[in-house]
Amino acid sequence: MTNLIGSELKDKHVVIVGGGSGMGKATAELAAYFSARVTIASRDADKLTKVAAAIEGDVSVAPVDTTNEAAVRTWAAALGAVDHLVISASSAAHGAYSDLPTGDLRAMFEAKFIGPYVTAREVLRHLNPSASITFFSGVLSRRPSAGATGLSAVNAAVEALTKGLAQELAGQARVNCISPGMVATEAYAAMPEAARTEMYAQVGDALPVGRVGEAAEIAQAVIFAMTNPFLTGSVIDVDGGHLVRA
Ligand SMILES: NC(=O)c1ccc[n+]([C@@H]2O[C@H](COP(=O)([O-])OP(=O)(O)OC[C@H]3O[C@@H](n4cnc5c(N)ncnc54)[C@H](OP(=O)(O)O)[C@@H]3O)[C@@H](O)[C@H]2O)c1
Repeated sequence: MTNLIGSELKDKHVVIVGGGSGMGKATAELAAYFSARVTIASRDADKLTKVAAAIEGDVSVAPVDTTNEAAVRTWAAALGAVDHLVISASSAAHGAYSDLPTGDLRAMFEAKFIGPYVTAREVLRHLNPSASITFFSGVLSRRPSAGATGLSAVNAAVEALTKGLAQELAGQARVNCISPGMVATEAYAAMPEAARTEMYAQVGDALPVGRVGEAAEIAQAVIFAMTNPFLTGSVIDVDGGHLVRA
């Protein structure tokens, strides 16, 4: 009989790049709950340290900027052996096609595609058998919207990377991708609170579930992707029905 979801994470080394906030942090909390040895990474060491201290369990920090390839190589070597790699780190650039500065577009591709691509490659040589890699895309990949064409494209690129690597790394690692719909996280912290609340209400009203997501709901899917030995090359939509809405 297959183990219950999460139970086989005990003492496994789970590395979460982007684990200092949002869905990465929620995944760190759930993996620690299942007694994994968790390492969280992002650029801000102080933020990571505070987050790690607030999580019950074995959580350590390893700061890195995924857009610095040399730094990623050194960082990956210092991690030791890794069982499950999750990469939720990203940044998003919104703007009309004609207006979005090319530099913003490049920076987004660096943070959301090249950074994860390089990070997974550098961690690869340190992966234990039965390892997994979980990337993050987003619902815009297959339901693009005006003003987010670049973001839609980078999400689609992450999904293509997932499917390609699932074949290329067969026998070495399972590779999957989580595609969230709108989830209330620190990603929207810079918005004024009233505008943010209004946005969540508007987006939520248009969804079959009637609300936007919570980070913990996405974390459940990440744990599933990490631990299901028959799952690879999959994009898991956790979007409140965004893809099927009217
Ligand atoms: N929230 C949503 O509604 C939504 C919807 C669809 C898809 N997604 C996708 O889901 C994933 C997780 O989103 P989230 O809302 O949980 O994000 P979040 O709360 O904004 O967290 C992203 C994390 O990435 C880190 N980060 C950014 N650039 C980095 C870099 N170059 N190197 C290392 N760390 C970096 C940030 O920390 P530092 O700034 O400290 O480095 C932050 O902790 C992302 O891929 C996002 O695009 C989110």
